[in-house]
Amino acid sequence: MHRFRIGVLTSGGDCPGLNAVIRATVASAHTLGWEVLGFIDGYEGLLSPVNYRILTVENTQGITATGGTIIGTTNKGRFVAKSGLGEKAMIPQPIIDEAKKTLQDLSVRALVCIGGDGSLTTADQLFENGVPVVGVPKTIDNDLSATATTFGFDSAVQCVADALDRLHTTAASHKRVMVLEVMGRHAGWIALYGGLAGNADVILIPEIPFSYERLAAHVEKRMASGAASTLIVVAEGAAPSGGGVQTLDGATKGEVRLGGIGAQVAHEIMERTKRETRTVVLGHLQRGGAPTTQDRNLGTRFGVGAVQLIQEKKFGQMVSYLNYQIGSVTIKEAVGQIKHVPPDGQVVNTAKAIGISFGI
Ligand code: F6P
Repeated sequence: MHRFRIGVLTSGGDCPGLNAVIRATVASAHTLGWEVLGFIDGYEGLLSPVNYRILTVENTQGITATGGTIIGTTNKGRFVAKSGLGEKAMIPQPIIDEAKKTLQDLSVRALVCIGGDGSLTTADQLFENGVPVVGVPKTIDNDLSATATTFGFDSAVQCVADALDRLHTTAASHKRVMVLEVMGRHAGWIALYGGLAGNADVILIPEIPFSYERLAAHVEKRMASGAASTLIVVAEGAAPSGGGVQTLDGATKGEVRLGGIGAQVAHEIMERTKRETRTVVLGHLQRGGAPTTQDRNLGTRFGVGAVQLIQEKKFGQMVSYLNYQIGSVTIKEAVGQIKHVPPDGQVVNTAKAIGISFGI
């Protein structure tokens, strides 16, 4: 007779803090006498050839401080449930049935799905098909509604601030304009919080369409009045008013890959101001490396919260972080809509109050 068994998987893009969730899930499940299977490479591990490993307190020791995920992840594969901004693609029934059978054959009584919007949409489809699922929200982008924040976001913001700290000295030495393109998909949280913490002079975010004329005029005014440099943080999903987002080639399945706005912004500024301008694309550095202490602790709290949801048989629910407390919401509620930066919110206004321009 098996011990009560649960499964855990990480799905979508990786994110600092995933291992903290895994370790906390395993450690708290073990105190209840449960066994934990970690499915490899997200939902793919549930499909033929089935791939998992038994996770123990011993083999998850010390992983809280590490980046990435020890059980692998993918944002491709047979389980992609989102095909673009807000578009939902139904997972084919044979795929759902196969995953369900795997869980039944292995006597897995509940599945912890750690993922972002797309992966939680998949989790909800499994739940609708009778799989006892609980969700853990994960994304560096901080764009999931129904939770004040997600682990990974703080680590990404720290990375942006560190990059800006470095760019300040080289930009000032050369009296240059420096454009830093950061992640965040269609939300500007990383750009806003990273730019604020790293003393950016301009922050461009998807929620506030900007004007190249105003941006160039602002840069020119600063440089002409003796500023040593101008540092611009641009979110990958930002766009000028009336213009569309920039995308990278090669996306065949899943969401389009955003990128290229940094180079475009630099080009437009150079054309208009003739100032020397350089671009840095921060890219996956924002997702790699050790999580900050805040993300370690939030991940740990989410892992324990997920096990509690299973104990309480609250399937179809996702742990959330609201008012400094771990609670839960239905997965459906959480994946319904993207959480955007309020363009007239306190943080944007704080940035404006210290002279940061949004290019408008
Ligand atoms: O959603 C997290 C994220 O890092 C986005 O900020 C970014 O647009 C995307 O994933 C990059 O995905 P990939 O790792 O597939 O290039």
